[in-house]
Amino acid sequence: MRRQCAALALRTAATGVNIPSVLTTREVIETTIALEKRSMALYARFAKIFSGQPRLHEFWFGMARDEARHVGALGLVATVLELEGVIDGPSPVPVQGFEMIRLSKVIEHYMSEPDSAFPIERALAIAVEVEESELEDLVGDLLQALQERGEYERCQRLLVHDLGELSYMIEQHCQDPTLLSRCDELVNHHAETLRHAAASH
Ligand SMILES: [Fe+2]
Ligand SMILES: [Fe+2]
Repeated sequence: MRRQCAALALRTAATGVNIPSVLTTREVIETTIALEKRSMALYARFAKIFSGQPRLHEFWFGMARDEARHVGALGLVATVLELEGVIDGPSPVPVQGFEMIRLSKVIEHYMSEPDSAFPIERALAIAVEVEESELEDLVGDLLQALQERGEYERCQRLLVHDLGELSYMIEQHCQDPTLLSRCDELVNHHAETLRHAAASH
C-alpha cells in the first residue's frame, strides 16, 4: 500500500480536519469526509465566481456535486458499519496523514484568497492540483475495502466523466499543454482503476 499510517494528531480550527494517531475506520472516514467537504466548498465557490458564464458555472457545480456524492457514499458506509458495530475497528485502508494535512492547508489557503484571485486558468489548475492529491484514491479504496462495490463503481464512473469535463475546459480555456496532459493522466488513472475493479468481479 502506498499510504502509511502516520502518528499524528492535528486539528485545524478552520477546517475541522482531524487526523488522530490511532486510525479506526470511523476516524479515516471522518477525516476523508471533512476533506471532501472542503473540496466541495472550493468548487462551489468557483461556481459562484463564474456564475455569469452558464457553461462554466454548470461545470464547477458539477465538480462540487461530485464531492457531495463522495461525502454521501462515505456517510452511508459509515452508517452501515456503525449499525454492524465494527466502525471503531482498525481501518482497512491506511492513510498518509501528511498528505491529507497538506491538502487541507492548500484548500484553506485558496479559500482565504479574494474572488479576483481566480481567473479561469488558475481555477482550472487548482482543480487539477486538488484532484491529483490522493484523496479520490482514498475514497475509492474505502468504498471498495468496505464492500460497497455498487457505490464505488457509480462514484468512479462519475469521477472519470467529470475529470473528462475538466480536461475539456482546460483545452478550451488554457494554453497549457502540461496542465492538459496532467489532467488526461488523471482521467486515464481513474478509468484504469475502474476497469480493474470491473474485471475483478
Ligand atoms: Fe471526492
Ligand atoms: Fe474530486
